Amino acid sequence: MESIENIQTELKKNLSEKRYLHSVGTMKMAKILANKYNVNENIAMLAGLAHDMAKEIPLEQAMEYIKQNKINIDEIEKQNTALLHAKIGAHMSKKYGFTEQMQNAIKYHTTGNPEMDELAKIIYVADKTEETRNYEEIEKIRELAMQNIDEAIIAILDHDIQKNINKKVLIHPDGVLLRNKLLLQLINNNIIF
Ligand SMILES: [Fe+2]
Ligand SMILES: [Fe+2]
Repeated sequence: MESIENIQTELKKNLSEKRYLHSVGTMKMAKILANKYNVNENIAMLAGLAHDMAKEIPLEQAMEYIKQNKINIDEIEKQNTALLHAKIGAHMSKKYGFTEQMQNAIKYHTTGNPEMDELAKIIYVADKTEETRNYEEIEKIRELAMQNIDEAIIAILDHDIQKNINKKVLIHPDGVLLRNKLLLQLINNNIIF
């Protein structure tokens, strides 16, 4: 597997400074969450660092990559092309020797997905709570992230879904499926309500 240092060097070349700092921030937060939730620290740091590696690829090039590599994309990703970087990044991360588990964490980091495992949850939350992010609910979500990762994910999905409703853009069903799954688990375990 590629080293953190080598991936950092490559990301520095391919990403804007802002996105690079977001990537390093996600790596740091992934490390904290990995230790909290007993996930391999190095794996989480690598996946966190690389999660947005495809984010700044121009659309035309992104569509070409999808075609060349026969990546399946759905109607919503076709419409909301900002989502594409997750699947492209997951595929590209193979060149670093990332495992399928790490690829899936990258694949699911934007919409969320009911198939997410602990690593994927950590990358999802780290991406939305890292040190350079700033939005109204972030402190509450950072706190939740250290208490119950599922509750943090629900709070992030609520925020994202609300944002998408306000912007009148499509809502990816995978995020809704994830929210329902986690919410149902919390209700059944009497953690909330
Ligand atoms: Fe992303
Ligand atoms: Fe990100």
